[in-house]
Amino acid sequence: MKPLNKIITNKDTTFNPIWIMRQAGRYLPEFREIRKKNPNFINLCLSDDLSSEITLQPLKRFDLDAAIIFSDILMIPYGLGQKVEFEKNFGPRLGELNLNEISKISEIDFVEKIHPVYKAIKKVSSDLVLNDKNTIGFVGAPWTLLVYMINQQSPKKNLKKDFFKDEFLINRILLIIEKFLKIHIKNQINNGADIIQIFDSWAGLLEEKDLPNYVYSPTLNLVDFVKSLNVPVICFPREIKNYKEFCEIVKPDAISIDYNVDPKNILKDIKIPIQGGLDPKILLTDKENLKKEASKYLNIFKDHPYIFNLGHGVLPETDPNMFDYLVKTVKNY
Ligand code: CP3
Repeated sequence: MKPLNKIITNKDTTFNPIWIMRQAGRYLPEFREIRKKNPNFINLCLSDDLSSEITLQPLKRFDLDAAIIFSDILMIPYGLGQKVEFEKNFGPRLGELNLNEISKISEIDFVEKIHPVYKAIKKVSSDLVLNDKNTIGFVGAPWTLLVYMINQQSPKKNLKKDFFKDEFLINRILLIIEKFLKIHIKNQINNGADIIQIFDSWAGLLEEKDLPNYVYSPTLNLVDFVKSLNVPVICFPREIKNYKEFCEIVKPDAISIDYNVDPKNILKDIKIPIQGGLDPKILLTDKENLKKEASKYLNIFKDHPYIFNLGHGVLPETDPNMFDYLVKTVKNY
């Protein structure tokens, strides 16, 4: 059985597998090397040779238990025909959202636009480096994709003023997103993804009263869909105020927590396997502190099925030696 399945399916508490969000990325010089020659991020995600190579980079360096496919949650709006660009020092910038145009996209059009992602998953999952390790596929949750598609850029702290103005548009877009996320999930699994993680990076922007409509209901549909394909699903509803309620309603197979969550409290509230939590900024301090902080999570979750990860993506300024030290700390615990 693969490492993450031991935790998620068998509820094993005798060891802690580790993978890290954004483990393939800018903190690695070998990634920056490829990135320099490929200024267009979307095209890089659409090169199955390069994206599979990038996916495997961290696994060649560190004793990680899973690969997460190098791609982006914004490949969905891209596949639906909305313009998506990544600007240096700014982040994603999306074009106008045109409901008429997006409504016309068929499954064939969509898959044709992004099929290299599936080819990359096939290459990665069949690589010898991944023998006995997991290949994680992922999607953005409907709410987070809606945020990018309407807001047209990262919302930082706030959504644009009239975000909820056009209720008809929002409801139509949510349905379209859900349909294509299911297609994207199914294709990732058919090509070798053996776990799916759903990133809801902007769940924390919503007021409690809006969670059922925008987070619980659409995410539950996806979670049920992944379960119907017999693949475990991990949810990461970042900065949601009530993880307990989320788990009770959405029922993912495992829950990934952000770094504002108190691990001791969550342990009391949540019965399902837990992942993550450590603040990525701890990797910017020193080894002694890193060991202390990582051990805190390992100690708290020592009798609970726990997958080691961070509370958000690894920061670009992280020293790969600190990353290595973290992996070794977890493995030697
Ligand atoms: O290693 C991995 O985790 C797999 C690859 C991955 C990327 N993006 C590559 C990437 C994954 C899982 C994502 C998910 C993603 N993308 C999320 C959810 C997780 C989160 O961070 O909350 C979100 C919100 C996005 C959208 C996105 N992509 C933003 C806001 C940005 C710009 C900010 C940033 O970190 O640069 C990206 C770009 C991006 N996606 C990069 C990478 C490696 C950096 C691209 C570069 O080299 O400039």
